[in-house]
Amino acid sequence: KHPAGAPSPDLARKITKVGIVGAGLMASQFALLFVRKLRVPVVITDIDQSRVEGGVAGIHASIDEMQTKGRISPDESNRLKALISGTTDLADFADADWVIEAVFEELSVKQEVFANVEKIVAETCILATNTSSLSVSAIGSGLVHPARLVGFHFFNPVAVMPLVEVVNTPATDDETLATAMVVAKTLGKSAVITADAPGFVVNRVLAKLLGEAMHAVETGTPFEVVDSATAPFGLPMTPFELLELVGLTVGAHVLDTHHAAFPDRFFESPALHELADHGKIFTRDAKGKRTGFDPAAVAIVTKAAAA
Ligand code: 3HC
Repeated sequence: KHPAGAPSPDLARKITKVGIVGAGLMASQFALLFVRKLRVPVVITDIDQSRVEGGVAGIHASIDEMQTKGRISPDESNRLKALISGTTDLADFADADWVIEAVFEELSVKQEVFANVEKIVAETCILATNTSSLSVSAIGSGLVHPARLVGFHFFNPVAVMPLVEVVNTPATDDETLATAMVVAKTLGKSAVITADAPGFVVNRVLAKLLGEAMHAVETGTPFEVVDSATAPFGLPMTPFELLELVGLTVGAHVLDTHHAAFPDRFFESPALHELADHGKIFTRDAKGKRTGFDPAAVAIVTKAAAA
């Protein structure tokens, strides 16, 4: 094992085809990155045809937008689109060398995904999970070959955020780790190798910020006050804006994971779960610019504070 550094890139396996499980927003964002930077066929899959088609259509729309902005030529746009395909049949992953999942943050769901993938792919295929804060070891606990599983944690927005956390489990072998580091570099990201600890590094730190911001509103300080008091920290977004960016459901899950792991250090936030069900914290104009706090969101935290 290499606890402090990456194994030699010479150990990295060549990637000639990528499989992506999940066709949601996060998966679609990194599908695009894989075709742009690795320039290999990328197949995405999801539980039904409409999700798969929605994912592929979203990626095509992003490619069209890059072309409209003059960032890529029409030829390049066609090349990228030709590299993307969607399927509901996992058998299409048979010749993939790298499979990454970004499905719902539920341990059993991710375990089932990899159990199914492992039946299809070759023994040398790397398996990567984009989990935000589940244990990568637990995700791989049912695998026949857990040595080829690694965490590969992107940040939102994937195209812009420069970091990938490469999560090294006690079982991950050097070939897998080296391949993950080379893939991250090819994607244009800086990568850090983290231990398989709750929240890895980034979400552990962010969970403190986001959790404390939620706790402040849940104990009676209005949204406006916490928002404007934290805005001058120099971060590109306030905690509530960041919660909306990562998704309120994902944010609530990250806080739950940290509370479960370190109950004396992290709050749980029942109000954030209610906000996730409601779907938003801010009201926004047609261009997506925030215009105020959503009255129903304010009512949720006011009720929590009064309880
Ligand atoms: N998708 C793709 N590109 C995007 C984007 C999106 N959703 N949002 C913004 N961009 C691009 C823009 O196109 C623009 O690119 P360009 O310079 O090439 O034209 C660039 O980002 C800057 O965008 P804007 O000028 O419109 O906006 P800002 O300067 O305000 O930047 C931001 C927007 C990059 C989102 C910035 O506010 C930011 O960095 N916010 C913090 C994001 C962050 O901390 N993310 C980590 C969240 S934690 C996480 O994801 C982990 C998970 O497990 C919970």
